[in-house]
Amino acid sequence: MKRRKFITLAGAGTIVIGGSVYFLNNNYQNNKYEDRINEIWSHSTKFSGSNNEVMKELVRYATLAANSHNTQPWLFKIGNRSISISPDFSRRCPVVDPDDHHVYASLGCATENIVHAAKAFGLKANVSVQNKMIEVDFEPISIKKTELFQAIPKRQCTKVTYDGKKVAGNELKILEMSAQDEGISTQLFTDKKDMETILEYLVEGNSAQMRDKAFVKELKDWIRFNPSEAIKYSDGLYSAVSGNPTSPSWLGNFIFNMAFTEKSENDKYMEQMRSSAGAIAFISEQDTIEHWIKAGRSYQRFALQATALGLKHAFINQPVEVPQVRAQFADYLGIGERRTDLLVRFGYGPEMPKSLRRPVNEVII
Ligand SMILES: Cc1cc2nc3c(=O)[nH]c(=O)nc-3n(C[C@H](O)[C@H](O)[C@H](O)COP(=O)(O)O)c2cc1C
Repeated sequence: MKRRKFITLAGAGTIVIGGSVYFLNNNYQNNKYEDRINEIWSHSTKFSGSNNEVMKELVRYATLAANSHNTQPWLFKIGNRSISISPDFSRRCPVVDPDDHHVYASLGCATENIVHAAKAFGLKANVSVQNKMIEVDFEPISIKKTELFQAIPKRQCTKVTYDGKKVAGNELKILEMSAQDEGISTQLFTDKKDMETILEYLVEGNSAQMRDKAFVKELKDWIRFNPSEAIKYSDGLYSAVSGNPTSPSWLGNFIFNMAFTEKSENDKYMEQMRSSAGAIAFISEQDTIEHWIKAGRSYQRFALQATALGLKHAFINQPVEVPQVRAQFADYLGIGERRTDLLVRFGYGPEMPKSLRRPVNEVII
């Protein structure tokens, strides 16, 4: 069977291999998966309790943050009115993230969720970074359930095509403001010409990654092809989240090997970028762990603000993950030696199934 034909069949929902017909499921409504999602992506019902109960709830909110490949590379230690966050290096992705930049950016995302959730529990979070670990100490304040807090269980990375609608100027300003932080700057793009140029870097980065067998293998290792597999691991990239059909693992592997090509991925990104209202780059002043964490915090705030405004967003990090392309992209942005940490597109799009998270007890040490 020719590859094109194979892909068409996969999209149609059935596939014939060796005379047998297999069904691919485009309907990701799976009861068990939905139940787990509803448990995970919910607000607390109680905003007071013992120190341990409150800290545990804050850790739960932290785990709802974005994180690279959904490896959930974090460990939390609960203290008396404090939480320490450290990397779980057993969940690092050495190919796409050789210097652990994304691990620390993910810890930054988790930290930012804690900051906003804490207010709802009447706590102000004071964040510091010491010895590659994040320390969050809390002091009492009056309870405040902010719109960014309300957005925590609604946020998701929406990795599909959007509707092409523009975002109003005042909302773009709110978005830009939300990402501001000392040591981090942003560049926001909405012009068609700029979006097309960014797309060129995206395609270049994506092509480099798709030609790298180790990258593709690492990515595939984190893909969960069906709800049972997704629930079993409660981590990784569940195919339905990105709008792909679900299938038995062996079939998913087979289809992945056939259909996941440089061209198909580049075509997908072209469509996705051209359907987006804009893109934003997060740039740190110094290339240090402290700044990678700050970049993660800045992105997470942006993501919560975007969610509060009814916007969707997704990472398009290829231009900043491939070192050569990162240098060229830095020239385009005119940022000299500074590092672009993260690149994100945004716009209006559909709600997709959410990603799973591991139980809170598994990430507390
Ligand atoms: C540092 C970092 C890097 C990421 N890189 C990418 C990326 O290159 N492409 C992508 O589609 N998603 C990327 N993501 C998004 C994750 O895949 C996503 O957060 C994770 O799967 C969990 O899904 P959720 O955010 O919708 O809960 C990244 C997230 C973080 C924090």
